[in-house]
Amino acid sequence: MPNRRPTPADIDTAVAALRRGEAIGLPTETVYGLAADAANPDAVRRIFALKGRPADHPLIVHLPAADSIGDWARDLPDAARELARRFWPGPLTLILKRQPRVPDEVTGGQDTVGLRVPAHPVAQAVLQSFGGGLAAPSANRFGRISPTRAEHVREEFGDAVPVVLDGGECEVGIESTIVDLSGRTPRILRPGMIGRAAIEAVIGPLGENGGDAPRASGTLEKHYAPRTPLRLVARDELAADRDSHVLALDTLPRGSHGLALPAHPDGYAHGLYAALRELDASGAARLLVERPPDDPRWLAVHDRLRRAAAGAGPDAETGT
Ligand code: TXA
Ligand code: MG
Repeated sequence: MPNRRPTPADIDTAVAALRRGEAIGLPTETVYGLAADAANPDAVRRIFALKGRPADHPLIVHLPAADSIGDWARDLPDAARELARRFWPGPLTLILKRQPRVPDEVTGGQDTVGLRVPAHPVAQAVLQSFGGGLAAPSANRFGRISPTRAEHVREEFGDAVPVVLDGGECEVGIESTIVDLSGRTPRILRPGMIGRAAIEAVIGPLGENGGDAPRASGTLEKHYAPRTPLRLVARDELAADRDSHVLALDTLPRGSHGLALPAHPDGYAHGLYAALRELDASGAARLLVERPPDDPRWLAVHDRLRRAAAGAGPDAETGT
């Protein structure tokens, strides 16, 4: 599919592919997804095969609107309705008790399902025309950097995914916040740009982040990783040599090679994955990333940088 904004005919082509059980590249406001019919186990298995992702890692089901939440989840707590009302469509995923009809291929055999209503107009157009739920992990091969542009998806999958809808650069730039509402105390499984304070303002205090069950492959310690070794450093450690490429805050230090991102969490998150891809392709021996401020608004960015550092390198064994 050519490099241009989708027309109604492109949306029809994409929906026809989904109905045949194929996977497509779909823009969302967070990152691009590799989307397939969540009610079709064969289609969902195709996603795992394309990504090279272990089959027991659950996928998020994307819905056209909050009113279909009851088709996929049961025993909805009030907190689910309140968060959906406040943040959907948007970059928030809710983990809820699943309906029996949800295929095990989607949930990794767990008793819960992840649900999200994305805000991106192209995702909305596809979902509304398709009418059902779309399972969509980030459209990268297992363990690699999530795509935030259509060409990143083409780099990852080439001809194996012929339909990639181009929705431009993803506005948010990092994956959705995941809130687990399936247990006694709600808690954040994966931090995102909807922060803890914003969620607590709606539903009250959350439990400790993360924890043991249920599984979330975005919570594997190594993740979102470039192939070049990557370290987080203070600004005065950003080297000015040819072998090191740097990712700086605000401005590139004199004499160093690399990129700078805005010193604001929204702008930084928006540009982060494209910057990591570009730096990874630069041929540098190592990547040095200036550590962002130690502030709650930077939590999700810190989380992705820490995992990128843990997973980086040519032989890294990584997650999602
Ligand atoms: O922003 C996003 O969430 C993007 C876009 C495409 O929507 N999707 C995304 O999907 O990041 P993925 O598969 O790369 O990450 C989804 C995360 C994984 O860590 C997965 O384990 C977790 O959601 N997850 C899904 N269902 C779950 C469940 N029932 N319990 C716990 N974690 C779940
Ligand atoms: Mg992912």
